Amino acid sequence: MTRARLLVIAGLLVVPAWPWPAWAEGGSVTLAQFRQRDQQVENRLLKEFEAATGIRVQQRIMPASTDLQHQQYVTWLAGRDRSVDVYLIDLIWVAEFAAAGWILPLESRLPAEARDGILPAPLASAHYRGKLYAIPRFTESGLLYYRKDLVPTAPATWEELRGLARAKRGREVAGYVFQGKQYEGLVVNFLELLWSAGGEVLAPDGRVLLNGPAGAAALTYLVELVGSGAAPRGVITYMERESLQEFLEGRALFHRNWSYAWSLVHREGSKVRGKVGVAPLPSWDGRRPGVAALGGWHLALSAYSERRDAGWRLIRFLTDTRAQKAKAIGEGRLPTLASLYADPDVLEANPHFAALQQGLAHARHRPITPFYPRLSAVLQTHLSRALVGSSSPQEALDAAAREIATFVARE
Ligand code: GLC
Repeated sequence: MTRARLLVIAGLLVVPAWPWPAWAEGGSVTLAQFRQRDQQVENRLLKEFEAATGIRVQQRIMPASTDLQHQQYVTWLAGRDRSVDVYLIDLIWVAEFAAAGWILPLESRLPAEARDGILPAPLASAHYRGKLYAIPRFTESGLLYYRKDLVPTAPATWEELRGLARAKRGREVAGYVFQGKQYEGLVVNFLELLWSAGGEVLAPDGRVLLNGPAGAAALTYLVELVGSGAAPRGVITYMERESLQEFLEGRALFHRNWSYAWSLVHREGSKVRGKVGVAPLPSWDGRRPGVAALGGWHLALSAYSERRDAGWRLIRFLTDTRAQKAKAIGEGRLPTLASLYADPDVLEANPHFAALQQGLAHARHRPITPFYPRLSAVLQTHLSRALVGSSSPQEALDAAAREIATFVARE
């Protein structure tokens, strides 16, 4: 047997069956993210990426709670972990991660025309000190869902909502369900009320304002919602998922959640399909419109990644039109690319998107500062104390403001 022939036979023994796995050539990249709403849609996208690039994607699945994800990410990044290349991050961490040098600026990587297509609010939230550090993957804002079969129109003010919730709740149907557990979601619910009431967390010069009259009114409102029975006591244990579940089971009249909940309400088999209306969050005083928080998640490249180019290719792939369209149709996720709000397939699957785009433009970002996660942790503790009745709203906010002032002053 000739040498060449021997080599061919040897080759046949080790070469795996056709098709040769594409990733064998392109190496691999690791993506940390929470379990996606429809993991099949996600896996299909990742397979397409692997086939197109030859780069294999490993996923690290994170817990659903944003705070638990944050803890894990901080542990990895502070430890200069090299095993994760791309992180799906909550937009509230951009400033902290960028200031710490944990994620790379992406200025030079994203072509200007690609930037122009991104909605202004999510794009702004991906910047820190004028530089782009992440690419928005999907966006969301707070909305009010209501049972239009039981309450014909959405309440115009928060006061009206509380009155209706109390008057119309029944033995089987609670009034208003929101996110009242001690975590970021509770802070979001409080901030939306605070902003609607004309308040602010911090003054431009860094003074802490959240314990002013608007803050006290907002927290008193939340506490009284629970105290008066307008919201069931269970809300103090609810995150997004639990509160939505109550609403989907038909056990609540009103529900605050992010925009993604709409597609779940309308899903086949939903007990409340066809019975739900959606509206902007109510106004505080009937004059100024209510204020919704801006939510959403971005993809960022770890400063400790040894596969930066491969990581960047994955970020581009997952944030481009094709992938965002798949997520919008398959999961009801709001795209961050303006063009998709006029895409006929996206609109057919989500006729409400056109209206939501408006709300997004007015949604407010939580304070953009590297210490936001600390500020939020302090608020979470004190808001929760007020909700369970261990301190009055004013005491809780004063205590939070004192603690926050100690680290704001040091920044
Ligand atoms: C959603 C939002 C995120 C927010 C979180 C609070 O995931 O996208 O921005 O911090 O909810 O629970």
